[in-house]
Amino acid sequence: MSRIAYVNGRYLPLAEAKVHIEDRGYQFSDGVYEVIAVQSGRLVDLDPHLDRLWRSLAEIELAPPMSRRALVSVMREMVRRNGLAEGILYLQVTRGAARREHGFPNPAPRPALTMTVRRSRPPSAAQFADGVTVITIPDIRWKRRDIKSISLLPNILGKEQAHRAGAFEAWMVDPDGTVTEGTSTNAWIVTMEGALVTRPLGPEILPGVTRAGILALARKSGLRVEERSFTVAEAKRAREAFITSTTSWALPVVSIDGEPVGNGHPGSVCASLREAYRRNHVEI
Ligand code: PDD
Repeated sequence: MSRIAYVNGRYLPLAEAKVHIEDRGYQFSDGVYEVIAVQSGRLVDLDPHLDRLWRSLAEIELAPPMSRRALVSVMREMVRRNGLAEGILYLQVTRGAARREHGFPNPAPRPALTMTVRRSRPPSAAQFADGVTVITIPDIRWKRRDIKSISLLPNILGKEQAHRAGAFEAWMVDPDGTVTEGTSTNAWIVTMEGALVTRPLGPEILPGVTRAGILALARKSGLRVEERSFTVAEAKRAREAFITSTTSWALPVVSIDGEPVGNGHPGSVCASLREAYRRNHVEI
């Protein structure tokens, strides 16, 4: 974990890093966040993460806590002060501390900006080689999943359900039977005809930064790409399935609800996209 955290303008030892008890993030989940990978001491895909943060802030009508440039300096300073070579940076912005009333406080308090970093590695070679398993669960989230809100209760309950079932991830399913995304990952399949399929952007899913990177690489490599919804049944009949996120890159899914996907082994499309992603995005 961070030795040094950033809290509202100050770099503090983790144990001394505290937020106000009436912070609206704490009381209402009134805030947004980002998770950014750090490789060789550098922030991976920084611009798209900042674009998404700015969009999330605008969607909840929260003013950015500082300029984009200033924010980047704090992020870099956090990486430097913690001597972080490989891991993740977590940042969150909330509407700040105010007397607990549901409506926006007036006058608006200063948004609260906090940051931590953590040493971590991408999934192991074994996880890439063996793949992971997923279960499917109903998507019980709100209707604005495109906002990277810190309100993650359905996601954590879903992830816990997956872990208790011995699975790595849970794919959430809308009432029409289509897969939205994983609890902390985007969901993909490769059909028997070789088309790469992932749900189009919209309020139903988070616009994953890794998703965008992988899509661009797939298009560049000439793969047939279909941005459309798919059902659990279609995923179970697919040749390949995989998940993407900042922390898992492109990780093959070898079974869904205990049923093997394709031949039950990781597929070549996922492997080649992951390799292209590593070359283009990570070793910078
Ligand atoms: N999760 N969908 C959801 C619901 C997510 O929480 C995430 C990221 C993604 C993938 O987005 P990206 O490729 O930008 O990481 C999709 C982060 C890693 C987290 O909450 O820890």
